[in-house]
Amino acid sequence: MTGHILSIDQGTTNTKVLLINEEGTITATGSAGLEVTYPRSGWAETTGDAIWKSVETAIAACLDAAGDVAIAAIGISNQRESVLVWDRKTGNPIGPCIIWQCRRSEERLAPLRTAENERLVRNITGLSLDPLFPAAKIGWLLDNEQGARKAAAEGRLCAGTVDTYLLYRLTGGQSFKTDASNASRTQLFDISAGKWSPELCSLFDVPSALLAEICDSDDNFGETQGGLVLPAAIPIRAMIGDSHAALFAHGARQPGVIKATYGTGTSMMTLTEAPLHSENGLSTTVAWRRGGETLYALEGNITVSGQAAAFASTMLGLDGPAELSTLAQTVGDANGVAFIPALAGLGAPYWDASARGTISGLSLSTRPAHIALATLEAIAMQVCDVADAMAADLGVEITGLLADGGAAANGFLMQLQADLLGAEVNVPSLNALSGYGAGLVAGIATGLFADEDARDLAHKAALTFMPGEASLDRLRRRKHWRNAIEQARCPCR
Ligand code: G3P
Repeated sequence: MTGHILSIDQGTTNTKVLLINEEGTITATGSAGLEVTYPRSGWAETTGDAIWKSVETAIAACLDAAGDVAIAAIGISNQRESVLVWDRKTGNPIGPCIIWQCRRSEERLAPLRTAENERLVRNITGLSLDPLFPAAKIGWLLDNEQGARKAAAEGRLCAGTVDTYLLYRLTGGQSFKTDASNASRTQLFDISAGKWSPELCSLFDVPSALLAEICDSDDNFGETQGGLVLPAAIPIRAMIGDSHAALFAHGARQPGVIKATYGTGTSMMTLTEAPLHSENGLSTTVAWRRGGETLYALEGNITVSGQAAAFASTMLGLDGPAELSTLAQTVGDANGVAFIPALAGLGAPYWDASARGTISGLSLSTRPAHIALATLEAIAMQVCDVADAMAADLGVEITGLLADGGAAANGFLMQLQADLLGAEVNVPSLNALSGYGAGLVAGIATGLFADEDARDLAHKAALTFMPGEASLDRLRRRKHWRNAIEQARCPCR
């Protein structure tokens, strides 16, 4: 097999496309933004067309940069838990794409929150009852979009996560499939049986006929149709959730390493021998299923992290996260300020949909730089909280972290992370690891390269950040953070 892999990484606020050659080198890239709107407090949505346009634009930019290349196969990594419902015949979405961060389905979950249901859902899916997950979001769309329940009953609708929607469009409606990693984040998937759960479809009132066929992450998903920005007949050979793809790209194939992908939120993941049920607020999830073999992971999904830097820079009238980081470096400490970025509730390990963001510890001596530094600390502190939960679940001490994603390119933040975690942080030379991981899965599936050769690719020339801070100060700062977290969760707020 010769040619390049074209990998599409469809994220919350942008799409990145990579071309990867037979040596595993990225030869061209393209990207395009994607607008997310926030119609009410706690809500977040975009449209199917906006997602598709962003994908088409990013592919066109990448192909423009590449010149004349043969594409052997396509890999897709994607924002997980965001969901759409569309017309099976026309492909037109009914209603918005409800973004993973959106809390609108909380009102559907409230009456379901009995101890028995919590246990049932956790045992079958490995997930806690939270509006993050698509099950209740699909129910919301069916009950709030006119005529949707009837159309669903007549078999005229499809419901799917972003991977499934993109596949449907790339194949001109020929393929309606998902992979086990994306399915495992829907709260409708039985992670032990590897199938949709009829019991949970009934609990969340989602007809199973709406759901896609579940495949291995390296399956033959279908081929591109003509009339697109891409040529026809290119096989789609990988679909995998973005965080899972990054773990794959880090070279993890067995338990041992913990990685953090710093995106809109941060997803921390580690492989486990078998499905491990967390006692500390983490999720049990499918890492990927390749060649029929399922690997499981423990995940801590932080709802807002990189987005906190974008949010704070807007609030401070700065030009973006890079300027925020420069400003943060002008002060030695945050002067007692703590920013809790619970801008869409709190995810792991707190799972508090009603928490809201706070900035505390303000005084007349507070300057914008202190808030800027508190924002970067918040990104790192949330990772520490999840790392503590992982250490408790796994019964091990965390001695190192592999970091990737946009914010991992910020050396100041990575040093702060190592200091606050008290463990070394390794950052690979490539930081678009989600797209790269999906490309590797597709490349291995097509025989473009061997798995043994793919494992170390991302870690050539990795940077290491060693913890430099006395542990006493670390403990003091973390205690201050935990107090501020409690304020953001206070019911009297
Ligand atoms: O679980 C949500 C996550 O997959 C979103 O990823 O890259 O858009 O922050 P990202």
